[in-house]
Amino acid sequence: MRGLSFFCLATAVAYALVAMALGIFMAASHDHMLAPAHAHLNLVGWVSVALYGLFYHAVPAASGMRLAKVQVGFATAGVVTLCPGIALAVLGISEGLAVLGSFLTIIAMALFATVVFRSRARA
Ligand code: HEM
Ligand code: HEM
Repeated sequence: MRGLSFFCLATAVAYALVAMALGIFMAASHDHMLAPAHAHLNLVGWVSVALYGLFYHAVPAASGMRLAKVQVGFATAGVVTLCPGIALAVLGISEGLAVLGSFLTIIAMALFATVVFRSRARA
C-alpha cells in the first residue's frame, strides 16, 4: 500500500489513537462531556477516512485521479477542524470551527461521490 491509500490509513489510525485516548480519559474521569468530539473523531476520522483509504487501495483508477487528492485534502481539513470544533462548541467557547469543519466534511463526501461515479466510467 502506498500513496493516497497509505496516507488515508496512516492518518485514520492516528485519529483512532487520539479518539480512543480521549475515550479512556472520559471513562476514567467520569466526565462524558466531550463524547460528541470523541464520537466524530472515531466516525468521521477513523472509520470514514479508513474507508476512503481502502477504496483508493481497491480501485487504483480512482486513486490516480487529481480529484482524489483534492477529496482527501478536504476530508483531512474536515476532520482536523470538525472534531476540535465540536469540543469547542460543547464547551460553549465557539461554534465557528465546527461550522467550518462540517462544510469541509460534507464537501469531502460530495467529492468522494464524484470520484466513485467517475471511476465506474474508467473501470
Ligand atoms: C479505547 C476505546 C474507547 C473508549 C475507552 C471509549 C469510551 C467512550 C465513552 C466513555 C463514551 C461516552 C459514553 C456516554 O456518555 O454515554 C463514548 C461514546 C461514544 N463512543 Fe467511544 N470509546 C472507545 C472507542 C470507540 C470507537 C472505536 C468508536 C467508533 C468507531 C466509538 C464510538 C463512540 C460513539 C459513537 C459514542 C457516542 C455514543 C452516544 O452518544 O450515545 N468509541 N465512548
Ligand atoms: C458534516 C459532518 C457531520 C456533522 C456536522 C455532524 C453533526 C452531528 C450533531 C450536531 C450531532 C448531535 C450531537 C449531540 O446531540 O450531542 C451528531 C450526532 C452523531 N453523529 Fe454526527 N455529524 C456529522 C457526520 C457524522 C458521520 C459521518 C457519522 C458516522 C459515520 C456521524 C455519527 C454520529 C453519531 C453516531 C451521533 C450520535 C452520537 C453523539 O451524540 O455524539 N456523524 N452529529
